[in-house]
Amino acid sequence: MGDSEYILEADGLHKSFGSGQVAEHVLRGLDLRIRRGEFLAVMGPSGCGKSTLLHLLGLMSGTDEGTIVIDGLNTTGLGETGRAELRRRKIGFVFQRFNLISVLNGYDNIALSLRIRGMDTSRTGELLEAMGVKAVAHKKPSQMSIGQQQRLAVARAIAHKPDILLADEPTGSLDSENAEALLELLTRANRQDGQTIVMITHSDAVTEAAGRVVHMKDGKITNENP
Ligand SMILES: Nc1ncnc2c1ncn2[C@@H]1O[C@H](COP(=O)(O)OP(=O)(O)OP(=O)(O)O)[C@@H](O)[C@H]1O
Ligand SMILES: [Mg+2]
Repeated sequence: MGDSEYILEADGLHKSFGSGQVAEHVLRGLDLRIRRGEFLAVMGPSGCGKSTLLHLLGLMSGTDEGTIVIDGLNTTGLGETGRAELRRRKIGFVFQRFNLISVLNGYDNIALSLRIRGMDTSRTGELLEAMGVKAVAHKKPSQMSIGQQQRLAVARAIAHKPDILLADEPTGSLDSENAEALLELLTRANRQDGQTIVMITHSDAVTEAAGRVVHMKDGKITNENP
């Protein structure tokens, strides 16, 4: 572990899609610092660049400009292998579109995530239980409801107890009861295991659980004040 107060530091991030006339400048010099053990909610209107930001923070795609420092390590010079390694070791990611492995059933989606990190898979059943998807764990994602897929995706992201959990609207497809159960689980991961959580959300229930809420506008964080 690095000794910086911040586990994630983004400085001057720029990201565009397309080029020429149709270029879309989505992130425009965005700064964001996230303390170790923080539970941060990120809000903003549809299309403002929340998922784009989360993908950059999770090293899923590269920045056009700016730096991302994770646990004291500047990721700018890292090649794809270095980024993948850092992601595997430190980051859990819940995608807005889940990205579950379609040919594997629920159980194996989680077990594989542990196995590729050389971790014991014995926690798999317990995780499925905690997320309320044990009864459908024999099914492939396409045979599950959207809410079940979402809970499975969260179970997969937290299975290896990552230092940083990046979650893109993880309660978006859940009813209020399941959303509450999910928030409870994440709050516990945050308080007991000290996991840092960065969560995109449109929900007031989530922002109540979070320790800090920031908003995105015009490609920047408007109220960055850690
Ligand atoms: N791979 C891509 N190629 C081209 N344009 C993209 C790509 N990804 C995102 N964009 C564009 O960037 C903008 C921001 O997209 P992003 O997915 O980050 O928004 P968002 O804030 O997460 O929205 P939502 O709340 O609807 O999920 C959008 O206008 C989108 O069309
Ligand atoms: Mg999004």
